[in-house]
Amino acid sequence: MKYALVTGCDHGVGLALAEQLVKRNYTVAACRLNENETQLDSLAARHPGQMNMISLDVSNDESVTRLASAFPFPSLDLLINNAGILGTMDSGPDAPLDFSLMQKVMNVNAFGALRVTTALLPSLRKGTDKTVVNISSEAGSIGDCERTGWFGYCMSKAANNMQGALIHNTLRQEGGRVFQIHPGHVATYMRGHLDTTAGITPAESAAGILKTVLDEEHPVKDRPLYLDFRGKELPW
Ligand SMILES: NC(=O)c1ccc[n+]([C@@H]2O[C@H](COP(=O)([O-])OP(=O)(O)OC[C@H]3O[C@@H](n4cnc5c(N)ncnc54)[C@H](OP(=O)(O)O)[C@@H]3O)[C@@H](O)[C@H]2O)c1
Repeated sequence: MKYALVTGCDHGVGLALAEQLVKRNYTVAACRLNENETQLDSLAARHPGQMNMISLDVSNDESVTRLASAFPFPSLDLLINNAGILGTMDSGPDAPLDFSLMQKVMNVNAFGALRVTTALLPSLRKGTDKTVVNISSEAGSIGDCERTGWFGYCMSKAANNMQGALIHNTLRQEGGRVFQIHPGHVATYMRGHLDTTAGITPAESAAGILKTVLDEEHPVKDRPLYLDFRGKELPW
């Protein structure tokens, strides 16, 4: 039996990842922020006994501690830190910058992944695969940076990449690993409305991510692999 946990499963890429992991016979802890979102309930009803729904706010210490202390599985093979927020798409340094919102974005996107991973390390260590997938973004690449703004989001994803590299240095010595994954430009509600400019659906993104992480052979290296959902390497 393989166990996985995915954060941010109310909708979008997280919901699609949870659904496809269940279809791949994983037993899945699907974490939700908003209990009024019903798509996850329908998914759980279609797969009785194979999904646990857990309330989780990755930006909140107590919420994450609660998750770890009542963790429903004997071990964890795959942790996908997917929860994320955009904040504002500020245009550049001359735009008014909302530092308080940027701190929130940092707390969810960067510290959130670290908070969940460190809290679940004991369970990951009991798992066979010990794999952490951080849903990062191309926006976190310093080597490929062409934007002039989106400060909070880009900085938070660069920080997410760094925490992933630090965790990888521990896990790879214990038979595990970390992937940093850009899910593609996906048609979700991350911008507050359905992003009709996006080229792929959450299902296509999730299928690519799981194929890259679970089906393809990638030797474990000193650094985590920083890949897009099609397996193409991104510059750090
Ligand atoms: N869409 C893209 O083009 C794109 C591109 C690059 C990277 N990404 C990354 O992909 C991941 C998934 O995003 P998405 O596009 O699927 O957007 P989404 O549909 O908005 O999904 C984000 C999920 O994270 C949840 N969430 C937000 N804050 C949270 C918190 N504090 N604790 C726990 N869960 C929280 C959201 O819950 P609620 O909505 O219910 O609040 C939602 O379920 C994010 O990390 C995002 O940065 C997306």
